[in-house]
Amino acid sequence: MEAPQRNLALDLVRVTEAAALASARWLGKGDKNAGDGAAVEAMRLSFNSLAISGTVVIGEGEKDNAPMLHNGEKVGGGGPLAVDVAVDPVEGTSLLAYGRPNAISVVGVAPAGTMFVPGPSFYMQKLVVPAAAKNVVDIEAPVPANLTRIAKALGKDVDDLVVFVLDKPRHKKLIADIREAGARIQLHTDGDVAGALMAIDPRNEVDVMMGTGGTPEGVLAACAIRIMGGEMFCKLDPQKQDEKNALAQSGIDIRRVLTVGDLVKSDDVFFAATGISGGTFLKGVRYLGYGAETSSLVMRGKTGTIRYIEAIHSWDSLMKFSAVKYD
Ligand code: FBP
Repeated sequence: MEAPQRNLALDLVRVTEAAALASARWLGKGDKNAGDGAAVEAMRLSFNSLAISGTVVIGEGEKDNAPMLHNGEKVGGGGPLAVDVAVDPVEGTSLLAYGRPNAISVVGVAPAGTMFVPGPSFYMQKLVVPAAAKNVVDIEAPVPANLTRIAKALGKDVDDLVVFVLDKPRHKKLIADIREAGARIQLHTDGDVAGALMAIDPRNEVDVMMGTGGTPEGVLAACAIRIMGGEMFCKLDPQKQDEKNALAQSGIDIRRVLTVGDLVKSDDVFFAATGISGGTFLKGVRYLGYGAETSSLVMRGKTGTIRYIEAIHSWDSLMKFSAVKYD
């Protein structure tokens, strides 16, 4: 048996809080890059305070050339703890820019070499279900069949179900199939990490997430699902010829069905997320004049501890020394 050890997630939450506090100032201002840039800068500085030798394996931004923590970038203050790091300083840059719900700042950390490296893959198809339905679905089965099985496993009728789907032209048939099957739909323009986490949380009205989103976002969601339970089945789903060609050249088999265990191979995983714009997943940053309040989700895989942290940040104290200007 072991004495309690350090919980890195409690350090990581300071990283996502910093990114959220810096970027939420850009809520609704229509400038995706400014919000993302503020979060990246705050996140990078906060990472340096952590006693880890981290390598960013899931950095965001390549897809749209946004400001980013680069893949391969070293983060942390150093030390013997070598870790893979997955970051999305603003997951849902458009959600933030247009003041829509569920923009979050998110980080996952796992032992070095245990996270899936997406290579040239930008997009993957995802089917995310709560623990009670994880043994009954098949990502390759028709949508109505999966919905029927999920409903049965959850003790519901199909028309009770709520399916989270990204509102994208590529999902026209998926949306039609779900409607045809009789299930209800939440359409969101962006933010499928929050979507995945809502699907596995029995307290949330979302029962399942279906459709294609970012591959990096899939690995980030997997860090959390590995801890919270539930399952995500995925298949790489290249959207453009360039991505198809690059995947073919890399020798990656795009027919393979991946699970959370393939995306994050260790239970010793840490996850933190802080709400930026607020919504049904986490409350957003509330600026109060003298400071701000943040809401975060913080988890450690080894112990399975899930914490919701409400923090109060006071400018009077913080702004005396902070290199990041939050006030
Ligand atoms: P960003 O944070 O890069 O803006 O990503 C938002 C997002 O909606 C993700 O949640 C999702 O996985 C992905 O983009 C979908 O990509 P696309 O908008 O290109 O369909």
